[in-house]
Amino acid sequence: MRLDKLIEEALHTSRKEMKRLFLSGQVTIDGTKERQQNRNVDSQIHKIMVGNQQLFTDEAYYLLDKPAGVVTANSDLNHQTVFDCLKKADRYPDLYAVGRLDRDTSGFLLLTNNGPLGYDLLHPEKKVTKVYEACINEIVTETDITKFRDGIIFLDGTQCKPANLEILQIDTKNQRSYIRLTIWEGKFHQVKKMFLACGKKVLTLRRLAMGPLYLPENSQPGDYFPLTKAQLTLLKPYFR
Ligand code: URA
Repeated sequence: MRLDKLIEEALHTSRKEMKRLFLSGQVTIDGTKERQQNRNVDSQIHKIMVGNQQLFTDEAYYLLDKPAGVVTANSDLNHQTVFDCLKKADRYPDLYAVGRLDRDTSGFLLLTNNGPLGYDLLHPEKKVTKVYEACINEIVTETDITKFRDGIIFLDGTQCKPANLEILQIDTKNQRSYIRLTIWEGKFHQVKKMFLACGKKVLTLRRLAMGPLYLPENSQPGDYFPLTKAQLTLLKPYFR
């Protein structure tokens, strides 16, 4: 959470007092004087001190294996939402999804109530990796791999950054291809539009990873996992 918000909530400081605490070097993170009042902190991975008092945050982070058919939205009249996948006790206030997956896409989705983290993970400058596996309705070729490597241009002219397309398996009998795709950006319907630009259609899509985090190998759609301290530590570079 934002450091100044944490201090205000924990110590009931006025704005003037807050400024004084920072200017006088009494606020330290991991032993270093902190000047940035609005920086993002979590006491699981940062030692947050104000004078000689240690402060603690209490925020939730879940890695959801989103099932297909479920919508990435706070509420929906017709479909189950990603938040309905959590047990009632785990539905912390202000939880939101970091990015979105289409209704028919399954796999990796981070849910948290740490507000600044989503902004930083989704910021285009951060170039966070996303890994997908998909079934495609035709035979994917070496020419497609080159097109993805050079940067796909959507049918509407939008230019994508270079992406890494790997063919996992070709089913010639049924004219299907199984692929893995790694991208470093997050445009709306990006994967489907990339294949459409090659005249092909995504039949099923599953996200396996985002940034340094991967779905556990045996994860099934509908499973969810609180982030471990080790996983949260991997996200530390995204806490600005
Ligand atoms: N790209 C898509 O086309 N859909 C998703 O859900 C995610 C990435």
